[in-house]
Amino acid sequence: MKKINSFEEYQTEYARSVATPELFWAGKANSFYWYKKWDSVLNWNFNEPNVKWFEGGKLNITENCLDRHLKKRGDKTAITWVPNDPNEVSRHLSYKELHREVCKFSNVLRSNGAKKGDRICLYMPMVPELAIAVLACARIGAIHSVVFAGFSAQSLADRINDATCNIVITADGAFRGVKKIGLKAIVDEGLQQCDTVKKVIVLERTKEEVFMQEGRDVWWHEEMTSISDIRPAEAMNSEDTLFILYTSGSTGKPKGVVHTTAGYMVYAEYSFRNVFQYEDGDVYWCTADIGWITGHSYIIYGPLLAGATTMMFEGVPSYPDAGRFWDIVDKYQVNIFYTAPTAIRALQAKGLGFVKPYKLDSLKVIGTVGEPINEEAWQWYYEHIGKEKCPIVDTWWQTETGGIMISPLAGITDLKPTYATLPLPGIQPCLVDGDGEEIDGNNVSGNLCIKYPWPSMIRTTYGDHERCRQVYFSAYQDKYFTGDGCRRDENGFYRITGRVDDVINVSGHRIGTAEVEDAINTYEKVVESAVVGYPHEIKGQGIYAFVICDEEIKNEDTLKAAILTQVTQVIGPIAKPDKIQVVSGLPKTRSGKIMRRILRKVASGEANNLGDVSTLLDPSVVDKIKQGAI
Ligand code: WTA
Repeated sequence: MKKINSFEEYQTEYARSVATPELFWAGKANSFYWYKKWDSVLNWNFNEPNVKWFEGGKLNITENCLDRHLKKRGDKTAITWVPNDPNEVSRHLSYKELHREVCKFSNVLRSNGAKKGDRICLYMPMVPELAIAVLACARIGAIHSVVFAGFSAQSLADRINDATCNIVITADGAFRGVKKIGLKAIVDEGLQQCDTVKKVIVLERTKEEVFMQEGRDVWWHEEMTSISDIRPAEAMNSEDTLFILYTSGSTGKPKGVVHTTAGYMVYAEYSFRNVFQYEDGDVYWCTADIGWITGHSYIIYGPLLAGATTMMFEGVPSYPDAGRFWDIVDKYQVNIFYTAPTAIRALQAKGLGFVKPYKLDSLKVIGTVGEPINEEAWQWYYEHIGKEKCPIVDTWWQTETGGIMISPLAGITDLKPTYATLPLPGIQPCLVDGDGEEIDGNNVSGNLCIKYPWPSMIRTTYGDHERCRQVYFSAYQDKYFTGDGCRRDENGFYRITGRVDDVINVSGHRIGTAEVEDAINTYEKVVESAVVGYPHEIKGQGIYAFVICDEEIKNEDTLKAAILTQVTQVIGPIAKPDKIQVVSGLPKTRSGKIMRRILRKVASGEANNLGDVSTLLDPSVVDKIKQGAI
């Protein structure tokens, strides 16, 4: 696939993608390997919604990630894996080796009863076997549902049950910094609530002793010993589901975002090449976890489709010290580096002493994703990591969009700190006001929507299509609603200002306030709770919980510790509130709705500017809350 090389070319491509979208995308799709080409490029309406790309086509994404490259770059490194412990040896898998491992593991899946269309849950550390398992699912046409290995047994069970998975792939444990996490024990606990799971395939990683259930649990290495390495890829329809990935929304439990095969594939490679301006031979490193969409699209699929060398890092940025990222960049001569603003802020806070020992001169492009980047962090990243010569690509996108939507193209688009700048070709963003009217012109703000389909967009929410319609397509007629607020400046550059719904973005992780409230409320002493986000120096947003208890609390510290344990058990440590305030009442309207606007102000330290509180059932609760604010 050819990439855009100049701003003029970007403008021409963009104009063409809007004027003749089907021709435009058919042109991109042509560079892939198809068993059979499509009959129609696009059929769509946003009312149902019903979006179909490349219908009639037959393909397999792993044929395009692996087999397609074997002749030209079979011996090139596909995956470089960097272990948590800097003294353990790293691993390099060539395209040939990766292909072989994927074929073998595909056969393991088949011999354990997996078929096309089955849902398979992956709960694994950041090791090459996770990528192998993802690709093996895709190769046999099974649907992967990767669950981030920081989620609790309860969250894991909920996701397994929602997608009725029949196989779970996990490891004995995971290394993360100084910690060792017993993944298999968490799976065992979760599976007590799941009856659809027939097999658990366990990778040996930490070598700690684990329980193996006779007839259900098998070891990865034993299954792989005498199995054939020949496995032709299954011919999939363009719109067959490739994967499910759970993500949080404003209400209810996390929903399973469904992505399908052909459109996702075309957009993953197109966006990867163009945003990062990937060139053959570049070493590319995205620090995300494969448990999130960034890892799916820009550790596995995008880079492998492009035939790149993609790096996987098992550990954390602070271990053994805050220079780890930069140590890895120098050691592996990384050219393109992609991380989250929260990591940049955390490392910035540790001081330049951890950056100075490193050259960082292999870097050409640096990127960010997951949350708005503040100006200070942007400047620090630009100056001290990119040495004022690497463009920063501030990439805005979502689990639901499948790929990067608004971002500079590295070295091509002008940069503006804190701005994601311009949409990629094929992406038609618009801003909408409170009445649902599109806001024209520049120097304006509104809710960010997308008004035309793009190939990697969400197709449905697993098992509940109505929810998909409600959440994304019902707020504004004929538009996909992102949930984000946005500003368009005088030059038409976009700046994402953050969520406008009840989702908080903590260290780049999406967390629904309702989910945290539900978790807190399961603690016996809590009667009711309300959770809001507030600005946090490192995490972007912190979690502030207001709780009402059923009795006088004698020891608040004990109560708070118990709430944190509860949230960790129900969701996972990422959802633990940073602050908990015990209150006697919550600000409610006469119809019983909690006025979160007031709580957000209190949590943000702006309690003196609460606006109109006259519609509250009992305005006096506000003063009490203000007095107790942390
Ligand atoms: C936020 C991550 C500002 C946004 C790929 C979005 C961003 C949510 C940016 C999606 C960015 C992501 N600037 N905000 N560059 N990138 N976001 O689904 O609020 O984990 O809606 O996907 O992260 O988070 P998700």
